Amino acid sequence: MTVRIAVLASGRGSNLQALIDHFASLGDTTPAQIVLVASNREKAPALDRARAAGITASVFDASDDGSALIGLLRGHEVDLVVLAGYMKRIPAEVIQAYPGQIVNVHPGLLPDFGGAGMYGARVHDAVIARGATDTGVTVHLVDEELDHGPMIAQWKIPVFPGETAQSLAERVLAIEHIVYPRAVEMIAALRERKIFANF
Ligand code: GRF
Repeated sequence: MTVRIAVLASGRGSNLQALIDHFASLGDTTPAQIVLVASNREKAPALDRARAAGITASVFDASDDGSALIGLLRGHEVDLVVLAGYMKRIPAEVIQAYPGQIVNVHPGLLPDFGGAGMYGARVHDAVIARGATDTGVTVHLVDEELDHGPMIAQWKIPVFPGETAQSLAERVLAIEHIVYPRAVEMIAALRERKIFANF
């Protein structure tokens, strides 16, 4: 049975686009399909990307205890929730309703440079400020702690001497677009074959 994915996104949705393109490229061999894109922001460009791909795009109220999101996910019989630039904390109720079934991508090497306030350009600024020699991309399952939970994949890259936060942001994002869809595909393939691995 094909795994039913919901992608949650709050912003531009470049990772969403990479996911859409990747799963479309798999054709009949895909273990998963994106059945829903949902956002807490009505004007999120990610919603336009979903509509352009013929995927249901929904806006939900993220200010409650998670009931609105759980209702939406259940309504679409979602098996796997993929966060792609979703800027709100996932309520504990949602995590308990979908244990081990929520995945996130972080533009840094967790557990470093993660947690409250560590998102977007701030991650790359902090990497440069600390003089770190490596950075990268982390894909992990979501638990109740921010930027925490079992790690699925990590891709490390060097920080070059004289590199800026901006150049780092571009390189890291390009890697996210390659790594994240493939990591999600692997999670979906395990789930589709009912192989127990993390969930
Ligand atoms: C990405 O860098 C991702 O790692 C982080 O938020 C950013 C989202 O970018 N969680 P986009 O909306 O996918 O373009």
